Amino acid sequence: MMQNLHVAIIMDGNGRWALHRGLPRTAGHVEGAKTVNTVVEASARAGVRTLTLYAFSADNWARPSAEVAALMRLLRRYLTTETRRCIEQSIRINIIGRRDRLSASLVRAIEHSERLTAACSRMHLRIAVDYSAQHSILQAARRAGSCAQLSTEVFHGLLAEVDHSSPCGPVDLLIRTGGEQRLSDFLLWECAYAELYFTARPWPEFGAEEFQAALVEFARRQRRFGRLADAAAGQAS
Ligand code: FPP
Repeated sequence: MMQNLHVAIIMDGNGRWALHRGLPRTAGHVEGAKTVNTVVEASARAGVRTLTLYAFSADNWARPSAEVAALMRLLRRYLTTETRRCIEQSIRINIIGRRDRLSASLVRAIEHSERLTAACSRMHLRIAVDYSAQHSILQAARRAGSCAQLSTEVFHGLLAEVDHSSPCGPVDLLIRTGGEQRLSDFLLWECAYAELYFTARPWPEFGAEEFQAALVEFARRQRRFGRLADAAAGQAS
């Protein structure tokens, strides 16, 4: 039932979690990175096919430079420490988003992890860094030009290309932690028929149980893809 799902997560609430404890915001991100490990493992166990995590948006560059640097360091550390574990669990790592504004060393780490895990097939882990859905859609539209044969599927493929990814199907379930209920320029095209799941829990407190609860809630939803219930039954993944 949960097989072949594409789950996407907006990992929000790190800063507020830390401030509530009298800690600097970056302590929330450090704790959040631990949750990433927990949720990646829980997803693989649940048979999720693709997991896309929103780690750094194109608009996050506007945060204080110390916070930006801390986030970039955490990403780099994640790649260097977790790539081996991902290989062991056959999880393919893929960083989506722009690369032209990342440091050369981070780009090298990204390419290294992607190369080492390229053949892993149990789950596709996509981490969005310097990502903006609007930017990606614009880039893909430019690439498509005036192509008369442009279809939804072809455009999906173009988007994946622009994002340094490969076509992985639309998002089935979008989770946002931290209490806000918005998409924040994340996977706007891919979420056309996504089921939305919002929880007040901040990301550092989100765990395997909460992830499972989201999957259970998802399984209860009736997906109709704009059709009547009977006709849509065969569409669900
Ligand atoms: C949003 O919380 C979270 C982020 C901008 C960064 C997410 C990054 C991580 C979870 C850690 C690094 C990621 C990986 C993959 C190792 P916020 O800071 O906006 O929280 P707030 O809304 O409470 O201020």
